[in-house]
Amino acid sequence: MTIQLKDLGRAVLETEYAVRGPIVARAQELEREGREIIYCNIGNPQALEQKPITYLRQVLALAQYPALLEQAANLFPSDVLETAKALLKGSRHGLGAYSESKGIRFIREAVAQFIHERDGIPTDPEAIYLTDGASKGVQTALRILISDPSDGIMIPIPQYPLYSATITLYEGKQVNYYLDEQHNWKLSKAMLEMSLQEAKRYGVKVKAICVINPGNPTGNLLDHDNIAMVIDFAKAHNLAILADEVYQENVYLPGDKFTSFAKVMHEKHEKDVSLFSFHSCSKGFLGECGQRGGYMEIRNIPADVVAQITKLQSVSLCSNLTGQVATYCMVRPPKPGEPSHDLYVQERDGILNEMKKRAVILAEGLNQVPGVQCNVVAGAMYAFPRIQIPEGRTDAEYCLSLLEATGICVVPGTGFGQVPGTAHFRTTILPPTHQMREVVERFKTFHVNYR
Ligand SMILES: Cc1ncc(COP(=O)(O)O)c(C=O)c1O
Repeated sequence: MTIQLKDLGRAVLETEYAVRGPIVARAQELEREGREIIYCNIGNPQALEQKPITYLRQVLALAQYPALLEQAANLFPSDVLETAKALLKGSRHGLGAYSESKGIRFIREAVAQFIHERDGIPTDPEAIYLTDGASKGVQTALRILISDPSDGIMIPIPQYPLYSATITLYEGKQVNYYLDEQHNWKLSKAMLEMSLQEAKRYGVKVKAICVINPGNPTGNLLDHDNIAMVIDFAKAHNLAILADEVYQENVYLPGDKFTSFAKVMHEKHEKDVSLFSFHSCSKGFLGECGQRGGYMEIRNIPADVVAQITKLQSVSLCSNLTGQVATYCMVRPPKPGEPSHDLYVQERDGILNEMKKRAVILAEGLNQVPGVQCNVVAGAMYAFPRIQIPEGRTDAEYCLSLLEATGICVVPGTGFGQVPGTAHFRTTILPPTHQMREVVERFKTFHVNYR
């Protein structure tokens, strides 16, 4: 048979992923025609001139091609050689063999140690799953949670479309809770309660709440009290929590600090709320999106459910080994005194300082344009400015015109969700700093003309 579109299920057909939608397709078409395109549509740092961290790539090179350990040892610092050897020993059979389904135990131990040092809390390597980017972990958690079409998952609006797309694909119900744009995308208890009650009225059985911290696309950062509030809310309503913490290194404002859900949960001695936390090699300052490394850590999940999660993970045998090694490098960077340390710190700080600068250039620049309001970018890699556009126009039309006129590729707010009647777009802060200024200038001219 030749498969037809009508043969596909409704869930597949209804699944949408705006970050790579029609505007991006048009951008690629224009690029083929010779236009210069500035891709601000996706958090893919190395596609926008960000250089890989040397340490990570050196370790990966040796792990992939162990012959270099003998043949070219003088090309690598001694700590890189030691790390690669330890990884190869820990993997037992190298990167060409499947690992345990949860991932190499040696690497999961390093992840557990990382969480322990970050949060000062006990962590179990057996509660860690190495995943192909955070995306696969999120999909596993949602697969476990959605067991019936009336099962609902609360997600922030605006959100990262991995959530809406996966909930649609698994035929669950998306339950929106709005972040308060007027107050820097604050997450309020009143809003959570309202959204939950509304869902219940429609017969939705809400199973979990997902929180993205720092936020994509909003760039907001939750503080300790906010996180404690979400945990109390989850407990009161018998919900699990999905804590998407892939931007934990991307925190820009002086005095701000990332706080994990795991840490607050531990402080509260909370044993009755299941927690799935996610981290990734794609973001932060590594920006290793293509390596597909990440992990999921679980807490307060009974052993029989853990066995089901492990079973699901084992259906794909294991996550890719290159990504597992990249995850090791993320959680176990060179320590002070080790030969790679200084260069590592220099590269890390260089990348984060540029992001910090660009976050300010972008938000301040956009706020100077009449009819545009942009909240401060406190974290992550994005701004989600609100735009005033002429009656009858959509933000998709706006973004397409912006692309055609300026070569700047951004994503319409509809792809992330927004309060009905408002219009936004999402842009990254990833173009190099000199280009970021250019983006803001081109955008200003365009917006004024468009209105
Ligand atoms: C909030 C959030 N979660 C998860 C991901 C998935 O990243 P990856 O699968 O590359 O780790 C992204 C990617 O942009 C993201 O923004």
